[in-house]
Amino acid sequence: MDLIKDIDIISAEEAQACDYKTTPDENTGKTKKLYIESYGCQMNFSDSEIVASIMKENGYDTTSDFEKADVIFLNTCSIREKAEQTVRKRLSQFNQIKKENPDLTIGVLGCMAERLKENLLSEEKIVDVVVGPDAYRDLPNLVAVAEEGQKAVNTFLSREETYADIAPVRLNSNGVTAFISIMRGCDNMCSFCVVPFTRGRERSRDPHSIVAEAKDLFEKGYREVTLLGQNVDSYKWSPEENNKARLNKKEEEVSQVVSFAHLLEMVAQVSPYLRVRFSTSHPKDITDEVLHTMKKYDNICKYIHLPVQSGNSRVLELMNRTYDREWYLDRVRAIREILGEECGISSDMIAGFCTETEEEHQDTLSLMDIVQYDFSYMFYYSERPGTLAAKKFEDDIPLEIKKRRLAEIIEKQSLLSNERNKLDLGKEQLILIEGTAKKSDQQLKGRNSANKVVIIPAGKAKKGDYVKVKITDCSPATLFGEILEINPALA
Ligand code: SAH
Ligand code: SF4
Ligand code: F3S
Repeated sequence: MDLIKDIDIISAEEAQACDYKTTPDENTGKTKKLYIESYGCQMNFSDSEIVASIMKENGYDTTSDFEKADVIFLNTCSIREKAEQTVRKRLSQFNQIKKENPDLTIGVLGCMAERLKENLLSEEKIVDVVVGPDAYRDLPNLVAVAEEGQKAVNTFLSREETYADIAPVRLNSNGVTAFISIMRGCDNMCSFCVVPFTRGRERSRDPHSIVAEAKDLFEKGYREVTLLGQNVDSYKWSPEENNKARLNKKEEEVSQVVSFAHLLEMVAQVSPYLRVRFSTSHPKDITDEVLHTMKKYDNICKYIHLPVQSGNSRVLELMNRTYDREWYLDRVRAIREILGEECGISSDMIAGFCTETEEEHQDTLSLMDIVQYDFSYMFYYSERPGTLAAKKFEDDIPLEIKKRRLAEIIEKQSLLSNERNKLDLGKEQLILIEGTAKKSDQQLKGRNSANKVVIIPAGKAKKGDYVKVKITDCSPATLFGEILEINPALA
């Protein structure tokens, strides 16, 4: 997905865009102010919206100015060492304002909180509260304890918590697109990955609360939702496995197991004018049924983030990804067969995993050529304490080799992105306008079904409109188009 947004990725430009996000200013008359910075993946950004909602119920409006805040939260990421270093640097920058305002409460939330637990309190003296991803309902209590001058920690991981009943405060929103968390945790145990330890066991959210959230967003003018999970294709909700009390109320509505394909269909049926995206798909789980559901609904965007990590089967086995090169290529073949060449496919890649040889690295490059990715998030391997790989293998690829292999992967992707974008030239596409373009307010920015950014002249179109465009030009990162029709009939 673009689940990952921390800063040791690809280019300086990307790094800037992906550094961190802060809260907007809200003035609903609450007496206290909350400032949140979110790092890491979209799940974290989505969680910050839940955190803001919980805090709002307890007397806090959000502020974009940390100097005005009574409480500062950093919602953190542990995925690579650099992600944690970024947060530690940021904490040290808050030293001064904590000195000036000793009543300020500073909290570390999210994956770093879960990984390091109370150790964070001794390592980072200015931190008052440490709260893991499943303990956000406890935040008001923990902050109250901190206000009394004590430190507070809750890193309890739950098997049930999905925050299904909490209406997120849309912090990250442009008013057109929104995230909906559909599941939490991950049971996959990829050997390099810290997420199963920081996010706990996989659990799926009640489909009714998901559809209700999508409907509510649509009624408020939103036109696109992205269903979020570390592994959305393993979404599974069954009345037996879930809250029995809830079953009694909803028995007539849900009498069978809801799979991801089924959920996708339920959300797609909210309105033909509500676009549906999802992220991330694990190659071992993505089924033909999901692909057929995507084909059946025009409003399900034709874009799949399908992280491969490596193009070599031996490395994939060491990574415990549970598929090999052939399996992955077979899934790509199915995508092309069912959804055609225009479906966007993107990936995540890790360069220099333990024992990776030069030939095995070449396999990643050759797989990229075969798949023709539109886009990728690319990283070099960063050993994470406590993971299977850290326990079993030596992190034996020297940093300069990791970096050189990563540079080759990045160069390959840049060529592929350019080629894929050129294929769109002259085509008519439907884009959803998200706002004005960064570089000029005479231009609007939208995205096509395949998730590519398309820039058009402002004309009469506005945010939230669907616009039929003709693609006239492209760069490796962006398409440019001209307006053919504003808000064509979609149903
Ligand atoms: N659930 C998603 C990935 C979530 S983490 C999936 O399975 O595809 C996002 C990406 O971070 C991963 O796909 C991987 O490419 C990268 N990543 C995870 N752990 C890493 C590590 N230890 N070093 C470098 N990159 C890592
Ligand atoms: Fe990590 Fe693998 Fe789970 Fe993705 S599927 S979050 S890479 S363990
Ligand atoms: Fe996301 Fe980073 Fe946690 S990628 S799940 S915030 S470790």
